[in-house]
Amino acid sequence: MTTETRRDAVQRPPAEVRYADELVRLRETDDGERPPGWALSLRAARTFIVGDPDAGISRKFVGDASLIDRALVTLATSRGLLLVGEPGTAKSLLSELLAAAVSGDSTLVIQGGAATTEDQIRYSWNYALLVAEGPSTRSLVAAPLLRGMAEGRVVRFEEITRCPLEVQDSLLSPLSDRMLAVPELSGDDGLVFARDGFTVIATANTRDRGVNEMSAALKRRFNFETVFPIPDLATELDLVEAQASELLARSGVRVPPRRDVLEVLVTTFRELRGGVTERGDTMERLSSVMSTAEAVSVAHAVGLRGWFLRGEAGQAADVVACLAGTAAKDNADDLARLRRYLEQQARGHAGEQWQALHAARHLLPG
Ligand SMILES: Nc1ncnc2c1ncn2[C@@H]1O[C@H](COP(=O)(O)OP(=O)(O)O)[C@@H](O)[C@H]1O
Ligand SMILES: [Mg+2]
Repeated sequence: MTTETRRDAVQRPPAEVRYADELVRLRETDDGERPPGWALSLRAARTFIVGDPDAGISRKFVGDASLIDRALVTLATSRGLLLVGEPGTAKSLLSELLAAAVSGDSTLVIQGGAATTEDQIRYSWNYALLVAEGPSTRSLVAAPLLRGMAEGRVVRFEEITRCPLEVQDSLLSPLSDRMLAVPELSGDDGLVFARDGFTVIATANTRDRGVNEMSAALKRRFNFETVFPIPDLATELDLVEAQASELLARSGVRVPPRRDVLEVLVTTFRELRGGVTERGDTMERLSSVMSTAEAVSVAHAVGLRGWFLRGEAGQAADVVACLAGTAAKDNADDLARLRRYLEQQARGHAGEQWQALHAARHLLPG
């Protein structure tokens, strides 16, 4: 196997690999000042994320460009950045893009969860070497935080609020004193000092245990930025179309998704998410998360159904078939709400695809 095919087989390479060409081009033309330890200037990092069609840089995050500026400025200070918001608003994507722009590497990631331990954040030991040689820099296994400090890179902490509070607090000394003690090692090896470029980008979902529960000491070491869902239909539709087209092409589907079907899909998501129709009528909202990210994944599934089951583009009936698993999950109330939506609201919208959506309502399970 050649390296080329091996690289192609990776399902989702990190941002610095996906956009390696763009990063090289930005670096070559970057004449702005770079903060110490940064791979790009703030301006070039911003362009990498919000895009610049004239320079051939794609737009990767859709949203408020001033949020990107504030985020980059925070990263250039000694504070961490905490991205807060509903699930599926691209917090993780944004943290990946910021890390790729600032450090050229987005792979130092800690995944927060109920079972996350300090070992997974700071360091652990290679037990065979530890037993054979005792604690040494050789038997030490650096986890993302230690590596980020020693190498001067951005460390990403996903879903930080899902971790136990005392585990979250292991960030305190790295963020405030910019050092980490390894008491098992003696002498100079026992203290790791953070190099320029080290900082932390954390993300937190508003649906999980709140950021309010974070310790006051840790909150003070972060600047908070809220990431909001995409406000208007046209922008969200463009994004879903672009991303679904790309995913479908990668899955071997040779017809692009139909715009009119996607419009019905995205509108359905927006109405169920917000609890208001595009016409301004209020309706029941779902308790399941109806995020842009979920819309992209339903659009992908719709296209796969059309192509692999019938050899054509996905249709409105495929949307109904794919919705139950996303929108209702195992929640019977949401399934009932979804059914009422297809009964009452879908019929109220004009257009062929809306009528098809209404007509296919019996495809919902149950
Ligand atoms: N504003 C946006 N800009 C670009 N992509 C978005 C946006 N909102 C959602 N997406 C899509 O949703 C996907 C999932 O987002 P993710 O970063 O996992 O969300 P979160 O971490 O907030 O739950 C992204 O990879 C992207 O495909
Ligand atoms: Mg996330």
